Amino acid sequence: MPLSAASDLGSNQQTSQSAAADASCMFRCIGCDATAPTAAQDFRCAHCGNLLEITSPAWTSSAVKADILKSTWRARRSSNEALDLSGVWRYRELLPNPALAQHVVTLREGNTPLYELPRCARLTGVPRLFAKHQGLNPTGSFKDTGMTVAATFARQAGCNWVACASTGNTSASMAAYAARAGMRSLVLVPEGKISWSKLSQALDYGALTCQLRTDFDGCLQLLQQLVKRAPVYQLNSINPFRLEGQKTQAIELLEQLDWQPPDHIIVPGGNLGNSSAIGKALLEMLEIGLISSLPKLSVIQAEGANALVRTVRETDGKRLITVQPETRATAIRIGNPASWEKAVKVIRATGGTCEEVSEFEIAQAKAEIGAEGIGCEPASAVTLAGLKKFVRQGFVQREERVVLILTGNLLKDPDFTMEFHKGELPSEELNTLQSASLAKLRHPPIVLDATLDAVVGTLEQAEKI
Ligand code: F0G
Repeated sequence: MPLSAASDLGSNQQTSQSAAADASCMFRCIGCDATAPTAAQDFRCAHCGNLLEITSPAWTSSAVKADILKSTWRARRSSNEALDLSGVWRYRELLPNPALAQHVVTLREGNTPLYELPRCARLTGVPRLFAKHQGLNPTGSFKDTGMTVAATFARQAGCNWVACASTGNTSASMAAYAARAGMRSLVLVPEGKISWSKLSQALDYGALTCQLRTDFDGCLQLLQQLVKRAPVYQLNSINPFRLEGQKTQAIELLEQLDWQPPDHIIVPGGNLGNSSAIGKALLEMLEIGLISSLPKLSVIQAEGANALVRTVRETDGKRLITVQPETRATAIRIGNPASWEKAVKVIRATGGTCEEVSEFEIAQAKAEIGAEGIGCEPASAVTLAGLKKFVRQGFVQREERVVLILTGNLLKDPDFTMEFHKGELPSEELNTLQSASLAKLRHPPIVLDATLDAVVGTLEQAEKI
């Protein structure tokens, strides 16, 4: 039966119901396991209301040979075909595929580097420490890996309008992919709670941008009502096509590690789509035989936006505890994460855990990653802060191989970086030790008279430090 990306759209939506994906794919409810060839606009199960995921028996059938997949994917690295140049569609054997290759909307996403982090390795006492830098995607975040797939199916279904609620990165990515596909885009963001650089991306890519007087959770709730009233197709990570694309972060990572699984992958958690996608990829890769063991997958949240951490601690992962979110890591300022059950499942299945980190720990870790010459946005830095906590707790041992997923680019939130270096962040009370450790990481700009003596004097001062 054909998989339709956008059935049940509003009547005035221009859809092509015949726009079918890979015929072997279906939607499966994560709660009651019911399957269906199509999904309603809210991507929830018609029987129990839980979220849907996409699955295909073809991905894990015994006919799929891990060695053949590996060699096919490697060979595509030397091809100049648009689909092969994408670090997402290169792995199309494990993705839903559109009816026609021309439907694919790509900006050459994926293809992100895996860096060693020698300084952070020394700091944490974990010598084999790596960062997979998703901030080097076309719009500066991991969102592009999912957006290419979801935008492709939106275009195939003939959508005029796509929409999302966002803390900034999803909206930047959606606006770009919609523009490439010739679709219009509607962005709902919390007023004053997202960084200007992310907002400016949505404006430049031509989105209709609404700053709502609420938080991210309020924006997402409103979008859920909107998709039932207006002919817009939602591209939040509730849309399971997004998560299929985001799976490729893990596939590409394993390929870069020559299919030798790391011991631990650490990822930031907000709405919890990304951890769910990475976990789904790890489980599928194990089933196919692409890897022979599972890395632990752990999720780190900010203390002020710790819904998953509280849910696991206080209800054993059975009932979501929502929180009133507050953190300067605005990308993950989320209190009612939509994909919490998917995340709990993959954390459990891989033997990982979840943890929370303070604003001080986030600011410190961000500067430490910056000092490696890499840099990331605050939400990404929770991974290093979380790793330090895991080492202290004994959950990560020094001989383990650990990969941090850096989700966003340093340039996504320049205000945070400037305020940090000028000594204005974090705003919480610090003890003497904490203040001293941050002082060493700060590099504020120095205003001087334009004279040789002034610059030489400053250089000499710096030499002494
Ligand atoms: N890191 C960054 C840089 C993000 O932008 C996000 C989410 C996350 C981590 C968390 O990922 O939600 O899948 O758990 N940003 C969304 C947005 C919510 O609207 O841009 P998640």
